[in-house]
Amino acid sequence: MWWYRIKSFFKFYWLASTKYNVQSKFLHEFVVHVLDTNKNYYAFEKIENERNKLKSNQEKVDVSDYGAGSVELKSNHRKIAEIANTSLSEPSKCKILFQIANHFQCKTILELGTSLGISSSYLASANSNSVVYTLEGDSSIASKASEVHQSLGLKNIKVTVGKFDDNLLKVCRDIESIDMVFLDGHHQREATMAYYETIRPYCHANTIIVVDDIYWSAGMTDAWQMITDKKDVSLSIDLYDIGIVFLKSELSKQFIRLVPFRYKPWKIGLFG
Ligand SMILES: C[S@@+](CC[C@H](N)C(=O)[O-])C[C@H]1O[C@@H](n2cnc3c(N)ncnc32)[C@H](O)[C@@H]1O
Repeated sequence: MWWYRIKSFFKFYWLASTKYNVQSKFLHEFVVHVLDTNKNYYAFEKIENERNKLKSNQEKVDVSDYGAGSVELKSNHRKIAEIANTSLSEPSKCKILFQIANHFQCKTILELGTSLGISSSYLASANSNSVVYTLEGDSSIASKASEVHQSLGLKNIKVTVGKFDDNLLKVCRDIESIDMVFLDGHHQREATMAYYETIRPYCHANTIIVVDDIYWSAGMTDAWQMITDKKDVSLSIDLYDIGIVFLKSELSKQFIRLVPFRYKPWKIGLFG
């Protein structure tokens, strides 16, 4: 898998465009306001303090593997610090999630894969009028995430504990109309496609779907390509570590690999 990620990274880098090649007005604005902004928010510092606490937490929890598993962590008796060091989205990725939610003023956000609650905290901090619905299979991890949310004073996050297969449809029905999706759990082709198909009827023309770890494995890249090939997907942005798709019908169908700017995919994803 490591070899696949390294090979894919070089291919991505070779084929990628930079912000200077961006033609469309919509994409240009997305680059300026979401990808290339250096705006820092007070929330970032508070959430990163929580991440640092998790990274030094030596408490052990028994966890179950629901997804494709961790490359680094083989034991199911894990230190919170180990999970925090290997499973969470890096600050640069979390800031992109925040900027998307903030720029498009997303009110209903669905996340698959809460883990210790860091990315959900970024998403929820972008707009206090939003509700972030986040799903996590492991109850010990989910309760740590809730502690993080509480410590940050975030009241707009709803954590649902249990397998995605058992809960996703019910949560989608509760939300009814989803503004933003972050798919960050169960990194396998069939699972990712099944979750996408479950979620899709609850999306609307302005929904933004972010798929994590699209070069984690050949299966994840296949899933990403199948999503971008869908007729109702207009713009797809490949940032190597994450893929972002738009369903807006007024945008012409386009697939672009973008070398991000402040966001550093070479720091993440390759070995995670
Ligand atoms: C990569 S972590 C999420 C990281 C988090 N989004 C962040 O960046 O802070 C993925 C999480 O999804 C959970 N997960 C994976 N597959 C699952 C499934 N099929 N059902 C329920 N939970 C699952 C795992 O237990 C893990 O905690």
